[in-house]
Amino acid sequence: MASNIITSTDFLVGKQNFRKTEFIAGIDPGIELADGEILIKIDSFGFTANNVTYAATGDSLKYWQFFPSSSEEWGRIPVWGFGNVFRSNHKSLSEGDRIYGYLPMSTFTILKPDRISPEGFFDTTPHRRNLPAAYNSYNLCSGDPAYDPAFESEQMLLRPLAITSFLLEDFLSDKNLFGAKSVLVSSASSKTALAFAFFLSKKKPKDCKIIGLTSARNIGSIRSLGYYDELISYEEVGSLPKTTPTIYVDMAGNGKLTREIHTYFQENLLYSCVVGVTHWEERSEEENLPGPKPSFFFAPARIRKRTVDWGRGGVETKFGESWKLFLPSISKWMNIKKASGKEEILSTYLEVLEGKSDPTTGNIMIF
Ligand SMILES: NC(=O)c1ccc[n+]([C@@H]2O[C@H](COP(=O)([O-])OP(=O)(O)OC[C@H]3O[C@@H](n4cnc5c(N)ncnc54)[C@H](OP(=O)(O)O)[C@@H]3O)[C@@H](O)[C@H]2O)c1
Repeated sequence: MASNIITSTDFLVGKQNFRKTEFIAGIDPGIELADGEILIKIDSFGFTANNVTYAATGDSLKYWQFFPSSSEEWGRIPVWGFGNVFRSNHKSLSEGDRIYGYLPMSTFTILKPDRISPEGFFDTTPHRRNLPAAYNSYNLCSGDPAYDPAFESEQMLLRPLAITSFLLEDFLSDKNLFGAKSVLVSSASSKTALAFAFFLSKKKPKDCKIIGLTSARNIGSIRSLGYYDELISYEEVGSLPKTTPTIYVDMAGNGKLTREIHTYFQENLLYSCVVGVTHWEERSEEENLPGPKPSFFFAPARIRKRTVDWGRGGVETKFGESWKLFLPSISKWMNIKKASGKEEILSTYLEVLEGKSDPTTGNIMIF
């Protein structure tokens, strides 16, 4: 094995300043593995605003705890990607097995698999045991019915987001959209919002509109996708009919915008749902808002509920059906861009951090 010629790198960001970054030496590929451990060589991973949100909520939602760094000052942002078992000290997993799941921005990571099935396994590394189970579950590509090697990029970039979009649509439809005739979605150009609009457009009553709210510069890129009934810029909130019963689905997490929307619709705002924080620098906790108190939608919590309702594997089966419908649509608009090596990884990271990446670009990183 040519382990001595592989460069092993970890990408770190300042927990208090995400613009501060560092590449350091990662795990030595020749490291001694404990009984039951496997060493994964990370092949590639997607990078979107969702990963920036993991950093922005790293303390409150414990995202920094998945792949701790050796210093309190620096954090390792989790990503979704593919890797191969590079070395195995586990009786059921072998060198070369391909996996998909939650990984650090690194060349290597060590997992301790348990509850192995043909479809996948759970990581039981001690420090991850009390973190949400959805992030500790890994797919084995050989047994994953939804895996298609031709669509690995789409899977890395959109599957972790679209599952949230699917669960959110399921939650709101289950509540009959709280009786709303309009669903207003901020950061409408984000992939999570696009997938949500796609799923909802297939289910919603005809007299309910999905209205996308986005930056003026992003309207052109997403109008042609046809996922929204209407698309307006952040400056045009005042053009919406005030008395239409409305739900706010907030992907932006922008405190000022949230106040503007609540103040504008008042009691006609029937539900306000916080999903994301793409506008991470404009984030603020808004007190005493008119209308309903914003509720946070956390996908892992909804997965737990639907696993009870639908049984083991129920979420995956139902999501798989929706994903199959969405996949051909994505392929029409998403342009995959691959960043390879430290320099390109850093410039792509900064581009996504600053919200400068075109919404139709899907950024993949490869060390
Ligand atoms: N609650 C959950 O369980 C859950 C699960 C999955 C995802 N999410 C959240 O959903 C959100 C969307 O994630 P994504 O990966 O789908 O995003 P994405 O596709 O990378 O979104 C890109 C868009 O986000 C906005 N944006 C990004 N960075 C910005 C910045 N620095 N300043 C201003 N706007 C910026 C821009 O949209 P506009 O111009 O349209 O604003 C941009 O076009 C994230 O906050 C993510 O964490 C939540």
